[in-house]
Amino acid sequence: MQAAVLREFHQPLEVEEVQIEAPQRGEIVVRIAASGVCRSDLHVQEERSPVARLPMVLGHEGAGVVEELGAGVESLAVGDHVVVALFGPCGTCGDCRAGDIVSCMSETRQNNMFGLMPDGTTRLRLDGAPVHPMVGSGSLAELAVVREAQAVKIDPEIPLDQACLAGCGVTTGVGAALNAAQVTPGSSVAVVGCGGVGLNVVQGARIAGAARILAVDTQATKLDLASDLGATDPVHLAQGQSVTDAIQAVVPGGVDFAFEVIGKPEIVAQAFAATRSGGTTVMVGSPPSGADIAVDGRLLFSDRKLVGTLGGGNVPQRDIPRLMEFYRQGSLKLEPLISQRLPLTQVNEAFEALVTGELARSVIVF
Ligand code: APR
Ligand code: ZN
Ligand code: ZN
Repeated sequence: MQAAVLREFHQPLEVEEVQIEAPQRGEIVVRIAASGVCRSDLHVQEERSPVARLPMVLGHEGAGVVEELGAGVESLAVGDHVVVALFGPCGTCGDCRAGDIVSCMSETRQNNMFGLMPDGTTRLRLDGAPVHPMVGSGSLAELAVVREAQAVKIDPEIPLDQACLAGCGVTTGVGAALNAAQVTPGSSVAVVGCGGVGLNVVQGARIAGAARILAVDTQATKLDLASDLGATDPVHLAQGQSVTDAIQAVVPGGVDFAFEVIGKPEIVAQAFAATRSGGTTVMVGSPPSGADIAVDGRLLFSDRKLVGTLGGGNVPQRDIPRLMEFYRQGSLKLEPLISQRLPLTQVNEAFEALVTGELARSVIVF
């Protein structure tokens, strides 16, 4: 099967023939129909990601059709439409059994994260040597072998080229609003950074019933998109302008909820300073390893909260069906997030678009 392989950091992906082995117990083969390209894929290519293990089939935002079942798979059937989630809980560790699936850090989950199956091997081969599927997904490929727990069945009427976005960006953004922050009806929200993920924080805040949703970005095109998706107040940041001042100019005294969706420590601190006492700031963006976040201690000497999240506190089997239901009802928009659709052979164009940063999402369609 054809797959987009990263053989060397800082080099373009190579679309080439990768051999696939039969699924083992608890695994399935998915024929990928579409896969979004996310900033975390770029982080791997640019050697910034802890999950990189080369050679690697990139992609972790895929959806497709179940093609083959390994032994013991009971929750899925051949022909089912599925979204491949960012991770699949192990189901057996103490945290999973206590219902705290988000906290699962079992060996199975760790292996998943580093592109391995639970037994520490992979089902992909290039010239006989193992190839790693990014976060156990590797969705920039015609076929993916994934754990049953990582695939979530969806209504076959939902177009797969839109559903795939629930694999990462939509789940993370909406989950940051609904799970991590628990945005309350009537509240004021500021979303700082309205890219592929931030636009979904905007949607999550709208779904939660926020009264004011400030979309803050340096790029005007992102603000237009954010307005289409539910932002009430576009805030166009001038170069060097403080996020705190820009937000408080619109909501004096500060917002109830602030989200940093860029990955810049100084912006996290500014977003935090833009909340009112009692407010909550969620850092959604991934900051560089080892970077400190310097918040003003006087502001934290209050009831303000600064919280982290990894992937929006996402429990795949709960959140992906919920997102698909929002989509079906019309409250979650997916099509406006898609800036371009490309064939796998043009996958490197999607990575270039991430570097220039002007588009929301590129989706590779098979
Ligand atoms: N102030 C305001 N907005 C900014 C600034 C800034 N200083 N710098 C960048 N932005 C905006 C960009 O214009 C863009 O719209 O932040 C947005 C970032 O969006 P994307 O590049 O599409 O990134 P995205 O995929 O949304 O990921 C955002 O979340 O999951 C993490 O690793 C991911 O850290 C990344 C973050
Ligand atoms: Zn577990
Ligand atoms: Zn992602």
